[in-house]
Amino acid sequence: MMKRLLTLVISIPLALLCSTALAVDTTAGEATFKAQCSECHYVDDFAGEAPADLIVLITQDDTLAAHEGKADLPALSAQDVANLAEYLAAGQ
Ligand code: HEC
Repeated sequence: MMKRLLTLVISIPLALLCSTALAVDTTAGEATFKAQCSECHYVDDFAGEAPADLIVLITQDDTLAAHEGKADLPALSAQDVANLAEYLAAGQ
């Protein structure tokens, strides 16, 4: 009984914390794209990809290397990248 209660007490805040961390904001993604990427990329270039695949693409070494001296991709937080990926996947 006690153990069950303890599990509940721990799992509810944990679930809340996880859903907050994963919440994406496409408006923020759009703002980042327009400010830092649209100079060289069209949003259509990435449309139709799954957000998870775009996160991998944006953060992979090849992509970071392609931007050295052009755009500061490593400065983007995980949340920035998740927002960007969601915005780009929607393609509009
Ligand atoms: C100054 C120009 C420039 C800016 C700004 C820029 N990029 Fe790029 N990006 C490039 C070039 C050049 C390449 C390599 C050639 C290509 O694949 O188009 C590239 C490649 C990529 C790729 C890999 C594409 C693929 O299909 O392999 C991704 C993803 C990407 N950029 C995302 C971004 C994001 C996200 C931003 C903004 C945070 C950004 N880029 C800002 C020039 C830029």
